[in-house]
Amino acid sequence: MQRTLRGGRGVFFAAAIRSPRDVGTLLPSGPELAARLAAVVSGAGRNGRPPVVVELGAGAGAVTGAIVRAAAQDAVVIAIEKDPELAQRLRSRALGVRVVTADAATLPAILADHGVDRADVIVSVLPWTLFGAQQQREFLTIFAAALASDGVFTAASYSWAYWTPAARRFRHELGRVFSEVLPTRTLWRHLPPAMTYVCRHPKVAGEDINADPSR
Ligand SMILES: C[S@@+](CC[C@H](N)C(=O)[O-])C[C@H]1O[C@@H](n2cnc3c(N)ncnc32)[C@H](O)[C@@H]1O
Repeated sequence: MQRTLRGGRGVFFAAAIRSPRDVGTLLPSGPELAARLAAVVSGAGRNGRPPVVVELGAGAGAVTGAIVRAAAQDAVVIAIEKDPELAQRLRSRALGVRVVTADAATLPAILADHGVDRADVIVSVLPWTLFGAQQQREFLTIFAAALASDGVFTAASYSWAYWTPAARRFRHELGRVFSEVLPTRTLWRHLPPAMTYVCRHPKVAGEDINADPSR
């Protein structure tokens, strides 16, 4: 019930039918997956300014509420969603986040519009396994460059797809742009079963920007 009402299932389902390759699933994320994704948010950032948390592919907000609950009170939370109707549904929920209707690829411009240089946390609920090789690479390059050096990037993934070529390519690309990539355990009771990746230490042009330069 909670998943139905809070997740905006009707609007989500309509978007999934309208744009199956963008939405990638008929069901919004459940509370267990939302909590897993949001777990990296608490304690993030704080380099003398309010932490900046970005959600990519926010949909109708199934994960956004968990992010808001986990974030510091003064955090700036920016939720990016490409589908105008889903973005409008999320806006109408008045969660106190800045909802931007845009393609996630424009993240650097969106951050600049909000007076932000880099994000402290990026939570991705994008359908990575539906993206082609070039799109995966382009997106991850953009997102890693938009992350603070001590920031964290996390992405949701459906476990059934773990060994598909697209998912393997995605893991390879994560390893290309982050020095640390940690998969989390599968949430078997989630529909469909899902897991996340938690990634730190973004590399710049293939180098870990936190690495000791004398090495
Ligand atoms: C798997 S759904 C997740 C929705 C919601 N966050 C949830 O967890 O239920 C993927 C979402 O990403 C959005 N999306 C797909 N490609 C996008 C892009 N390039 N930029 C922004 N949003 C995108 C879709 O419209 C859809 O709402």
